Amino acid sequence: MVKLTNIKKVYNPGKSNEFEALKGVSCEIKDGELVAVIGKSGAGKSTMLHILACIDSYQGGEYSIDGELVKKLSEREYARIRNEKIGMVMQDFALVEDFTALENVMIPLSFSKKKVDNKKEKAMAALKAVGVEDLAKKPCNKLSGGQKQRVAIARAIVNEPSMILADEPTGALDSKTGAEIMELFKQLHEQGRTVIIVTHDPKIAEQCEKVIEISDGEIIKTA
Ligand SMILES: Nc1ncnc2c1ncn2[C@@H]1O[C@H](COP(=O)(O)OP(=O)(O)OP(=O)(O)O)[C@@H](O)[C@H]1O
Ligand SMILES: [Mg+2]
Repeated sequence: MVKLTNIKKVYNPGKSNEFEALKGVSCEIKDGELVAVIGKSGAGKSTMLHILACIDSYQGGEYSIDGELVKKLSEREYARIRNEKIGMVMQDFALVEDFTALENVMIPLSFSKKKVDNKKEKAMAALKAVGVEDLAKKPCNKLSGGQKQRVAIARAIVNEPSMILADEPTGALDSKTGAEIMELFKQLHEQGRTVIIVTHDPKIAEQCEKVIEISDGEIIKTA
């Protein structure tokens, strides 16, 4: 289970462009839940997801993963959790464009503290799981948006994380490709993973078990 308690996030603290993006956010997400985070542009959705993914800091409140306070983790433990428990699909894919699909998916395996055997096979299995193993050797700058999204998902699942976070994974896709990508997330959820999806699309949100709505840095509704 992950739990945010009264999380406050301030960008550029103490500076003239200081901005409070999260104003005391509290929520609980259980293991294996399929959750949507919705809200208008600028509401704080990506900010909340980045904190959940352990890739951004916060100024107040507590974040705990499986009962452990993230703040109290050593740098090493923090990196281990980020790498082994969490898979993140960024809003703009964040693929290395001139790397091949396979090379992109292998990146988290090289960061892993655990010795990972058969990195190539693991990365190929992840590409296969999202249906793009035939694109393994293609540079990402030659892929379509939907294909890039699949490669980004393969990279997020290659370490077999228990929690997958995706920021607008269907936002840049046509509705058919978007529906296919949503099917992939539902499969990951059915395999027992926690899946948290930021979305503007009510059709995506209605397929989730829980919908968290953020407005101006606050959760205004959980349904
Ligand atoms: N690095 C940053 N520095 C300063 N302000 C930021 C930074 N990142 C985000 N913000 C501000 O924090 C607020 C929340 O941003 P966030 O990216 O979380 O919104 P969002 O809900 O994901 O929006 P969108 O739907 O457009 O992606 C916005 O007002 C944004 O301008
Ligand atoms: Mg965003």
